[in-house]
Amino acid sequence: MCGIVAYIGQKEAYPILIKGLQRLEYRGYDSAGVALFNDGNLNILKRKGKVNDLLQFSKDKNTAGNIGMGHTRWATHGVPNNTNAHPHPSGDGDLAIIHNGIIENYEPLKKALKNKGHIFTSDTDTEVLVHLIEEVQRETKTDIAEAVRLALSQVIGAYAIVVLDQKDPTRLVAARKASPLVIGIGKDDFYLASDATPIIEYTKNVVYLNDEEIAVVDLKNGLEIKTIANEPQVPVIQEIHMEVERLEKGGYDHYMLKEIYEQPRTIADCMRGRIDSKNNRIYLGGIMEHKKRFQNAKRIIIVACGTSWHSGLIAEYLIEELARIPVEVEYASEFRYRNPIVGEGDIVIALSQSGETADTLAALEIAKKRGAMIYGIVNVVGSSIARLTDAGSYIHAGPEIGVASTKAFTGQVTLLTMMALNLAHERGTISESEYQKLIIELENVPNKIKELLANNEENSKIKYIASVFQNAENALYLGRGYNFPIALEGALKLKEISYIHAEGYPAAEMKHGPIALIDENMPVVVVATNHSAYEKILSNIQEVKARKGRVVAIVEQGDVHIKNIADFVIEIPKTAEPLTPLLAVIPLQLLSYHIAVMRECNVDQPRNLAKSVTVE
Ligand code: G6P
Repeated sequence: MCGIVAYIGQKEAYPILIKGLQRLEYRGYDSAGVALFNDGNLNILKRKGKVNDLLQFSKDKNTAGNIGMGHTRWATHGVPNNTNAHPHPSGDGDLAIIHNGIIENYEPLKKALKNKGHIFTSDTDTEVLVHLIEEVQRETKTDIAEAVRLALSQVIGAYAIVVLDQKDPTRLVAARKASPLVIGIGKDDFYLASDATPIIEYTKNVVYLNDEEIAVVDLKNGLEIKTIANEPQVPVIQEIHMEVERLEKGGYDHYMLKEIYEQPRTIADCMRGRIDSKNNRIYLGGIMEHKKRFQNAKRIIIVACGTSWHSGLIAEYLIEELARIPVEVEYASEFRYRNPIVGEGDIVIALSQSGETADTLAALEIAKKRGAMIYGIVNVVGSSIARLTDAGSYIHAGPEIGVASTKAFTGQVTLLTMMALNLAHERGTISESEYQKLIIELENVPNKIKELLANNEENSKIKYIASVFQNAENALYLGRGYNFPIALEGALKLKEISYIHAEGYPAAEMKHGPIALIDENMPVVVVATNHSAYEKILSNIQEVKARKGRVVAIVEQGDVHIKNIADFVIEIPKTAEPLTPLLAVIPLQLLSYHIAVMRECNVDQPRNLAKSVTVE
C-alpha cells in the first residue's frame, strides 16, 4: 500500500504532488508528506493524517521547487505520526526517499548501520533503506543511481521507491520490486507514481517499470532503465487512455455512492464487444485464444482476497453449475503458504480490482512456477497481475476510488458469468435455449440496475431501514446458493465502512451457531431472491422471527410470502437465478452506505483500510 508520486521538470512540483497524492489516497491515509528541492535546499514537509492535513500544515510554508516527491502512507512499521511519515532524509540530509512496500531484512541492516554510527529517528524500515543508500554512496564513492542499485541488492522485501540526492538535483532515481511504479514521460519533464492517476493530466505516454528494475529520469539525459543486476533495458513506452472526469466525484457526496450509481454503465462496458446480441453468443477473447486448455481443464482454482474473493465464490457456483468444471476458491494468502497441489492441467484465475494485491500476485507466481495456466481478471489496466498472467480479461469498470469495492465487484461477477456461459457453450454442458435465455437476461441487467437505482420508493425504504439500524452493534447476513457470497459481501460492506460487526452465513448454517445471537435487537438481512431454494429461505426467516430477530429481506418484485413475515422488504427486479447476485448486492451496498453516512463515518476512506494492499 502507500502511494508515491514524484516530479522533475520546469513546473512547480508542489501542486502536482498534492493533486497526485489526493488521487493516491485510496492506497493509505495515515500520513502524508512532500520533499521539494529549491535553491540548493531540500525541504521536507510531513504530517500525520490525510493530504488535507498536510495542505493545512504547509499553508504558510515554503513549497517552491521544480523537483519533488510526495507520499501518502498506510502504516506497516511504526505508528502513524509525523516522524514516521515519509519522505525520510538520510543521516547527512542530502538524500530523501519515498517508499511503498516492506523491507523485510531491515533489522539486521539497521543493526549494521548503527554499528557504523548511523542514528535513526523513526521506527520505519524506509529510514533504514535511505541510510543504507547513503552508506553505500559514502563507501563506494559512486553516484546516486549506482548507490541505489548496490543498496537494493542487499535488500529483501518489496519496494517502489524514489530517491532524490540534493548534490545531484537534475535527476530522480526510482526502483521497483513487487510494488507498482509508473513513469510518465512529458515534453521536458517526468512524473513517477504508484499508478497512472496522478499523471494522466500531463501526459499519455507511460512506462511501467518491471520488477527489479531501476529507472533514472534525468533532465539532461532522459530516461534510462537497468536491472538491479546491472543489465540495461529498453524502455517500452505505452499510451494510456483514462478520462480525468472519471476520477472526480461528479456531483455525488462520496466516490462510493458515485460508483454504486455507475454500475449500469460499468456492467454494460464489461459486456461490450463480448456479447454478440444478434446471434446471442458470448465471445471472451482470453478464453477463446486458449480454448483447448479451458476445454480440457481438470480444475479451475480461483485465488483472490477481500471482495474479489466473494466474486470468486459466485464463480464457483456459476462455473460448476453451467460448465461442469470443478472449481476451488482460495484466499490467496492461504494458498501461497500451504504448498498447494497445483500443476499442468489446472487453470488458476486471479481476481483483483487493483491487480496489485501482494498475496494474489504471490499465489499466481507459485501456480505459474508449477506449470498451471494463469489467467487474470483485473480492473486496473497495465497492473502487475495483468502483466504476469498468460491471458486474461479486463472488467473495464474504470477507476474505483472508494475503498469499499462496489462496481469492481459487479464487474467481476459479470465477467465471470460470461466466462461460465462461454465455457458451458464450448463444452456443450448447457442447452442452446438456456444459453440464449441467460445471455438475453444478462444483457438486461444494466437496465434493471438502473431501474432499481431510480426507484424512489425502494431508495427511501433503504434509507429508512438504515435509520432504524444505524445504532446496531451487530448484524447477521444470510443467503443460500448463488446468494450466499452476497450475504458475505453485504456483511463485509457494512463492517468496512460503518464499523458495525457483521457476519455473513449460509442461511441453513445459522442453526449451527449464529442463531444463538438472535434477539429483538439483532438485524438479520436475508437475501431471499433464490427461486430454487425459496421455501427453504422462507423457513430460515421463520426461524429468525420465532426468536424475535428483525428481518430485512431482499426479495424479487411480486413476492408475496416473505413480505408477510419479514419486518422490512426491499424489492429487486426479477431475473434468472444465476444472475440474481448482480441485482441483490445493490441494495446491500446502499444500505451500508447510508448507515455509514448516518454514523458520520468516512465512507470513502474507512479507518485502517486501504484499497490496494501491496503488503502481505
Ligand atoms: C482491500 C480492499 C478491498 C479489496 C481487497 C482485494 O482489502 O479494501 O476492497 O476487495 O483489498 O483487492 P483487489 O484489488 O485484489 O481486488
